[in-house]
Amino acid sequence: MGKGKLAKFAEMKEMSNVFEYPFSVVDNVPFTMKGHWRDEYFHNDNPIVLELGCGKGEYTVGLARLYPDVNFIGVDIKGARMWTGAKLAQEQQLPNVAFLRTSIEIIDRFFDRDEVQEIWLTFSDPQMKNVHKRLTSTFFMERYRRFLVDGGLIHLKTDSNFLFTYTRLMVERNGLPTDVCTDDLYHATPEGLMGSPLLTIQTYYESMWIERGLNIRYLRFHLPQADTLAEPDVEIPLDEYRSYHRTKRSSKTTAR
Ligand SMILES: C[S@@+](CC[C@H](N)C(=O)[O-])C[C@H]1O[C@@H](n2cnc3c(N)ncnc32)[C@H](O)[C@@H]1O
Repeated sequence: MGKGKLAKFAEMKEMSNVFEYPFSVVDNVPFTMKGHWRDEYFHNDNPIVLELGCGKGEYTVGLARLYPDVNFIGVDIKGARMWTGAKLAQEQQLPNVAFLRTSIEIIDRFFDRDEVQEIWLTFSDPQMKNVHKRLTSTFFMERYRRFLVDGGLIHLKTDSNFLFTYTRLMVERNGLPTDVCTDDLYHATPEGLMGSPLLTIQTYYESMWIERGLNIRYLRFHLPQADTLAEPDVEIPLDEYRSYHRTKRSSKTTAR
């Protein structure tokens, strides 16, 4: 039988690779490792890569195994999911992994200017109704700029046509340099990604969507520090399959 949530929460409190700072905590206890992840936790000068909304942390752990000279931090608010990745990293003795349990809305309280080189967004909720909650919106891009190096990389891997299209339009509107943009990663793999180890990692949500026959989309772009960012002003068709089991509250079929 699987371990219960309470047992996982208790175990996480003792894990040296887990930092738990939800709003209520960080408001009272300042996070002193901001700007010091390398010297105080990783004890090296290697680049830092974040996986935001990491769930069970498949990318955090998988990439850490592939790239031992890079430091990876998985961020999510849900502790029980994160436990899986933290436990695996512990069992596999991966010194280049940490997990941070907090809200991505306050992520800039944990990282200082230029402290992070790359961000992975893996199967993020598309937040079709609220652009302010969408992790690829310009609101979040401005937040990421507070700690991402100039021109730092952002990877988006998603099943959602809505999130993919929105992000592509946001990137185009702001002229952000793009390395890869494909709406069918596994059936029309871009040449530069053929045989790439990046394709060997699949997350929990990813396998669910693949089982349902959905395409996986991947966009990789750079976020320069210059220029004010503008939101795209285009109506995008909603992902219908996401409302399968929900009562339909709105008749809208598109959103911005
Ligand atoms: C659809 S799941 C994807 C999980 C994982 N990346 C995967 O592919 O299996 C989205 C995850 O993002 C987390 N999340 C969404 N919004 C968040 C926020 N604002 N702050 C922290 N975590 C968030 C959720 O808790 C959830 O674990």
